[in-house]
Amino acid sequence: MTKLSDSLQTHTPCVSNFPNDIALPTDPITWALDMFAANLSDADMQYRDPTSGGAESPLLYFNQADINSFEKFRQRIHSAQPVHGSLPLIDFCAGDGTVRNNADWAWQIYNAHFGEGLTQRHPMGSYVRSTMWMSCGEHRYDAHCDPFDGYLLHMSGHKRVRVWPLPKKYRQEVVFNHADFEGRMATKPIDFDMAPGQILFIPSGAMHEVISPGKTPSVSVSFHMGSPFPMQTLCMQLNKLLQGGSVSLPGNMKSINKFDMYFFEPSRFNNTKGDLGHGMPKELYNAILAVLISSNVSAQTMHELLSTWWQIGKSHPLYRGPYPERSQEFN
Ligand SMILES: [Fe+2]
Repeated sequence: MTKLSDSLQTHTPCVSNFPNDIALPTDPITWALDMFAANLSDADMQYRDPTSGGAESPLLYFNQADINSFEKFRQRIHSAQPVHGSLPLIDFCAGDGTVRNNADWAWQIYNAHFGEGLTQRHPMGSYVRSTMWMSCGEHRYDAHCDPFDGYLLHMSGHKRVRVWPLPKKYRQEVVFNHADFEGRMATKPIDFDMAPGQILFIPSGAMHEVISPGKTPSVSVSFHMGSPFPMQTLCMQLNKLLQGGSVSLPGNMKSINKFDMYFFEPSRFNNTKGDLGHGMPKELYNAILAVLISSNVSAQTMHELLSTWWQIGKSHPLYRGPYPERSQEFN
C-alpha cells in the first residue's frame, strides 16, 4: 500500500484521498475562526479590495495588533469578500518545537503519516511546519514556491491550486536558491480543484498559486517538511570544526531572505556512495567547494573538513532548520 510519505523528494504533484483514521474538527469553519480569535497576534491576514481591480487589486493587510481585526476578518469570511488568513500550528525541528492548542489532531496526522518516512529520508534531521489556511471570495494567494515538500489537506469549501512542475534544470542544482520565479514557471501548469477530504502533494521548489472560488469559506491545513540545509548553517558548523583559518560565503549568498538564501540538500545524496573514501559524495563536495571562500585553510584541510562534517552527519543529526538566524551560533 502506498503511504503519503512515499511522495517525499519526488517531483510529481498529485492528489489523494486522506485516510480517515484521525478525527479532524467536525466543523472546520468554526474551528478555524476560533483559532484566529484565540491567536490573533500570530496570524497573517490579508485581503483585496474588489472595487479596485478585483482579483488583481493589491494585497492589503489587517493589523494583528488591533483586536478589531478579527471581527473585520470574520465579517469578510461570512460575506464572501476576498480575504485570506493563515496561522502556524506546528513548528518542529531537531526534536524540539511547538504544537498550538487545539491543533493536536494535526500533530497526530504528522506522527501517523509522515514522521517515520520523513526521518528515513532525512537522516541528518528535518523540519516540519503545519499551517492553517482560511480564505474565500475568489481570493488569490500569489504564485510562489516553498523550500519544502508540501501536503495540503483540504477540509472545507473549494480550492483551486495551480502547480507548475519543477523544470528539470532546477532539479539538478546542488547549491541553489528559490529566487527565479519566472524560470520555475517555464513548465505547463496543472490545475487541481480540491474537494474536502483530498490532500495535494506539492513538490519542493514547484511554483504554485491558490484561489478560493465560490462563496463558501475554504479551510485547509498544510504540512511542509524536509531538510533544506542553509549554506550559512554549513559555514557555521565548519568553522566550529576548524582549528585555525575560516570559511565563508561570497556576498551574494549571505542573504537570509527566504527566496534569496542558498541551500543544498544532503539527503538527496543518502544513497550515494562517498567517492572520497568515506567522505562526502563527490558531486556535493565539488558544488560546495566551488562556492566556499576559505581563508588560511589548505586544500587538504578543506577536504578533511568536509569529509569529517559528512561523517559526523551520519551519526549525529546536524540539521538546525531552514532559518540560520534562529540558530544560537548565528551572529
Ligand atoms: Fe506554498
